[in-house]
Amino acid sequence: MTWKRICEAAEIPENSVKKFEVDGVALVVVNYGEGFRAIPPICPHMEEPLAESGVVARCILTCTKHLWAWDLRTLEMQGETERPLKTYEVKQENGTLLANIEGELTYDFDDAAGDSDDDDFFK
Ligand code: FES
Repeated sequence: MTWKRICEAAEIPENSVKKFEVDGVALVVVNYGEGFRAIPPICPHMEEPLAESGVVARCILTCTKHLWAWDLRTLEMQGETERPLKTYEVKQENGTLLANIEGELTYDFDDAAGDSDDDDFFK
C-alpha cells in the first residue's frame, strides 16, 4: 500500500472532474456526490482527456466524445460502453484525499490503433 496525498477533498466540487499529478502519475479525481474516484486521466475508449470531456451527473461519469459511461458507485459500464474504468483506491483522512498508487494505471490501446490516425495516436 502506498497512500499518497492528492488534495483537500473540498478542492473538488460535487459533480466535477479535476486533473492532478501525484509523484509523476497523472490522474483525475471525480467527485460524484456520494464519494470520490481516482482514475487514469484518459478515456479507455480513445484516450480523450476526461478532465475536459468527462461529465458527471447522478453518479454517472460520461465521456462526451462518444458517450461511453460508467456508474461511479459500482463501476458498472452503461449503455454501449465496452471497457471498464481502472481505479486507484481512495480514502479521506481529516478532509484530505489520498490515493493508493503502487504504479501508474494505463489502458492498452493496441486494439484501437487501427481506428485512429497518427496524430491522435501519439497525443
Ligand atoms: S473517447 Fe471517450 S467515449 Fe470515445
